[in-house]
Amino acid sequence: STSQTTRETADCIFERLRFQITRLGSATPLTSHIFFIFGASGDLAKKKIYPTLWWLYRDGFLPERIRFIGYARSQITIATIFEHAAKYMKVENHERETFQKFVELNSYCVGHYDVEKDFQHLNDEANRLSKQESAHRLFYLALPPNVYESVTELISKHCRPKPPGWIRLIVEKPFGKDLQSSNKLSEHLSKCYVEEEIYRIDHYLGKEMVQNIIVLRFANHILSRVWNRDSIAAVIIIFKEDIGTQGRGGYFDQFGIIRDVIQNHLMQILSIVAMEKPRSTKGEDIRDEKVKLLRCISPVKPEDVVIGQYIGDKDSGDVEHQQGYLDDKTVPDNSTTPTYAQLILNINNERWAGVPFILRAGKALNEKKAEIRIQFRDAPGAMFDEDIRENDPNGRLARDELVMRVQPNEAIYLKLNTKRPGEMGFIIEETELDLTYGDRYQGVKLPDAYERLILDVFMGSKINFVRSDELQEAWRIVDPILELVDQKKLPLIPYKFGVFGIPEAFEAAAKHGYIFR
Ligand code: NDP
Ligand code: BG6
Repeated sequence: STSQTTRETADCIFERLRFQITRLGSATPLTSHIFFIFGASGDLAKKKIYPTLWWLYRDGFLPERIRFIGYARSQITIATIFEHAAKYMKVENHERETFQKFVELNSYCVGHYDVEKDFQHLNDEANRLSKQESAHRLFYLALPPNVYESVTELISKHCRPKPPGWIRLIVEKPFGKDLQSSNKLSEHLSKCYVEEEIYRIDHYLGKEMVQNIIVLRFANHILSRVWNRDSIAAVIIIFKEDIGTQGRGGYFDQFGIIRDVIQNHLMQILSIVAMEKPRSTKGEDIRDEKVKLLRCISPVKPEDVVIGQYIGDKDSGDVEHQQGYLDDKTVPDNSTTPTYAQLILNINNERWAGVPFILRAGKALNEKKAEIRIQFRDAPGAMFDEDIRENDPNGRLARDELVMRVQPNEAIYLKLNTKRPGEMGFIIEETELDLTYGDRYQGVKLPDAYERLILDVFMGSKINFVRSDELQEAWRIVDPILELVDQKKLPLIPYKFGVFGIPEAFEAAAKHGYIFR
């Protein structure tokens, strides 16, 4: 059956990766790897990094000779870290033995983020554990940004492996707060590291459907012919969450939704949706095209922005929905940080001039969803107008739309007009050519974004990581708006927890030519 074949294909891919990893180890039989987790006591380490390392280890993706070292200030042990991470690791009973082996490869080192001798001690510990001063070293910075500078400097100074061992530094967002602070961080990093050593993670680049955009666009002639302003009326990239800040308000309030989601995740998706065809699938070729595209976007104008903040819905039966953003104890009482934003961008190049690219993101809405909608222009001519009006006096032929659902339930579907089956005459209805992954690829496990990305770092592949010039361009586009938001110069629209969205945003999108269906 088809799903059987697909399953086999997926297995083949995983086998090939596993083979490449094994070769990575066997080409240099003496070389081992050390994976350091900075901020090992924290939330991201517990929820994502440790579980991901375990899954990669369990599935045989990691090099044979490897050690994992957690580092943080807290006086805890590796056992405590594993206790906290246990519920995210999802260890099955039959995996207990393998899990125990994984646990034994882990250790934890207590230290400050700005004390030289703590880093010297970490280095000694790493040499002792790996019994090799030239082991390759990967550093994951699961830390708040205020300590990035000292940590990266001290790692470079005291924890570099002896050649031929390499060092790779994985940096979590936020990469700065605006263009200036981002450039400052980039300058700092470039003093201590060469660009090849830096992996700026944007976990949306590790999502299946985001990776699929490149294939869908460039491996299908039928789509590449219509992927331009002649055929496309509008593009909308949507991020929705059905939860509020949930205790992360302290972090979130300093950033807001534009910095937290739009400047990075949505802007990355936009650049892949709109870039020209890269020369090859090599990381540099793809990233060159993304930057070229971003350079064609002018900074967002205030009239193209809608921002909002959620308030509690006192009538809701759901206790969480009764709490507004300002009710979060970690948020200052008078905060005007947006939890919802819509930005409409224009790409001033030959392919896209005049086509609105609408980036919309919001927390505390009615559902969790991320999707890309490519809306095509109206079918020309009036051939079906009378048939449509017979059924609906205000009716019009719906536009075709290609939807890529990033999450949940990955899917690609094309909305089309067809004749309602069995009816006499032309009764037109919308239907879908539907590729829902859960139906088509039954039984295929889609790896978590972090699994792919951490594996990429081991392999030295940078396709799915953000280059410093990309970052610079993305900040340049949103910077003027962030300034106005920070100065409270844009109206902040309140919306109730759990609503579908903000009407003002829908109206603005419609004004730019996106027809809501
Ligand atoms: P945490 O607040 O949990 O911080 C991680 C660790 O850093 C803490 O355990 C603590 O360790 C140390 N730390 C915390 N605050 C400070 C401080 N002010 N000064 C020095 N050290 C401090 O952060 P997260 O794990 O949530 O996030 C880490 C990074 O990952 C951040 O950059 C965040 O933006 C990013 N991120 C997080 C996501 C998540 O889901 N949590 C999702 C996407 C990105 P100790 O005191 O033991 O040294
Ligand atoms: C993070 C943001 O980068 O992405 C969070 O900081 C957001 O605020 C998260 O909740 C969403 O990620 P995902 O993979 O759950 O869509």
